[in-house]
Amino acid sequence: MIWDYYNGKTLFITGGTGFIGTALLCRLLSQSSPKRVYVLCRGGSDKAKAKWSDMLPPSAANILTQNERMTILDGELGNTATMSLPEETLQMLKQTVHIVFHAASSVQLHNSLRELAYTVLAPSLCLTQYALKFPNLERFVFFSTAYANAHLWKTHDSTDVSVDERIYPLGREEEDYYKVALEAWSTVQKTGSSDEYDAHDFPWPYAYAKHLAERLVLQKAAERNKMDKVLIIRPSVLGPADKFPYPGFATSDGAPSTTCAAAYVLHPGRRIKLATRCEYPNQESTIDEVPVDVVVDRTLVHVALETSGCIHAVSGEQGRLSTEEWWHAFKKERRLPWHPKPSWVSDNWHSPDLHQMGRRFKIIGTSFAFSQERTVKVAEKLGAGEKENLQLFADRSKPYSLHLRRYHIRYQAVQVAKQRKWPLWSARLLCRKGKPVVHLDKNVKA
Ligand SMILES: NC(=O)c1ccc[n+]([C@@H]2O[C@H](COP(=O)([O-])OP(=O)(O)OC[C@H]3O[C@@H](n4cnc5c(N)ncnc54)[C@H](OP(=O)(O)O)[C@@H]3O)[C@@H](O)[C@H]2O)c1
Repeated sequence: MIWDYYNGKTLFITGGTGFIGTALLCRLLSQSSPKRVYVLCRGGSDKAKAKWSDMLPPSAANILTQNERMTILDGELGNTATMSLPEETLQMLKQTVHIVFHAASSVQLHNSLRELAYTVLAPSLCLTQYALKFPNLERFVFFSTAYANAHLWKTHDSTDVSVDERIYPLGREEEDYYKVALEAWSTVQKTGSSDEYDAHDFPWPYAYAKHLAERLVLQKAAERNKMDKVLIIRPSVLGPADKFPYPGFATSDGAPSTTCAAAYVLHPGRRIKLATRCEYPNQESTIDEVPVDVVVDRTLVHVALETSGCIHAVSGEQGRLSTEEWWHAFKKERRLPWHPKPSWVSDNWHSPDLHQMGRRFKIIGTSFAFSQERTVKVAEKLGAGEKENLQLFADRSKPYSLHLRRYHIRYQAVQVAKQRKWPLWSARLLCRKGKPVVHLDKNVKA
């Protein structure tokens, strides 16, 4: 059994109060009995418990807030491995931890590379170097993003770009890309950029930062002859859970397509300007949104089965949506009788003329076919009973709907209206009213 693997193990998790981290902790602690789970949280125990109690119904929050196997460590990732923790805690972690889940990260897509050097790259590198010294380390899990390879959209002519579960070097295929990564990292630290970054068209600095972080993590593992201990999980666009901890679970701002829906709901005109190179963008361009529980179960299964290297946590070719399908679901969320529609232009994805969501997310109007071959193979090896209780693939048996995130769409629309100093009734008028998912069904259980 997958869950037996975690029994008696000691785990260390960063980002445990985030979207993925919370879902991962709920799943792990409700299915298995680890010896101890250390959760790094800036702000400590009170802050972590307050966040979980805010985002989860009591039955699910209790799994985390009342758990005797969990210890919350008040610390913060930075550009040293100390994480603001006392030396004795660092020594204790070193001696006891078997599995590290590194899910903490800035998800600010547009922050400069100089900033991301401090919020994504240095923390990941420092934690990797520290964890690779653990004598009992079985797996170091680094959460990256499937869009770390989004620059491939610009280097391919196809309107559906295939991405495999591997590293795509930014120079020549045969080069030593770990050595190149070290050189690039040194330049990024000195200048805030690098030649390889300038030579490729990434949608956001964040995508390149994750691409570089993946290679640096692997480089450190190679140096210590521990490549078999590193697992890189690449989620696509996170969406609410299909099943665990309960259907519809999401943080208020964790799902990017909820953010898009909130912005489109507020759009006063009839046309929303978006960029594409597809001839029939509504049908050809796609959105790979993956339920958070699929990310969590894929991660936990691959760790238990000792997978190393890169894994896509995605909906894939079968589960992704065409823009048309997404738009169909969106139309049901806006109250006013006219519905804004995409107005497709062939501008560059950095064009300042696009709608603010086009400028922010940039991958709208593209299409990526992320391979999920390695999970398909693993699933074939699992028994039918075990597979049935795992969410390894997105459930697309029902038509796609944004209904369960109505509350979050409205919440985000109100936040945008506040920022822009628009009257709040405008957001309330345009959005359908929704209750938090946990109140829709009194029987929701984790
Ligand atoms: N969201 C997406 O659509 C998406 C898609 C693909 C990949 N990913 C990746 O998946 C991982 C998890 O994403 P998420 O959506 O769960 O993120 P999230 O909800 O924004 O949570 C981020 C977590 O990281 C913590 N954190 C950030 N910086 C920290 C620091 N310096 N020290 C300690 N803790 C820190 C935050 O703590 P606080 O509570 O203190 O803020 C929070 O717990 C990230 O690596 C992200 O890049 C996300």
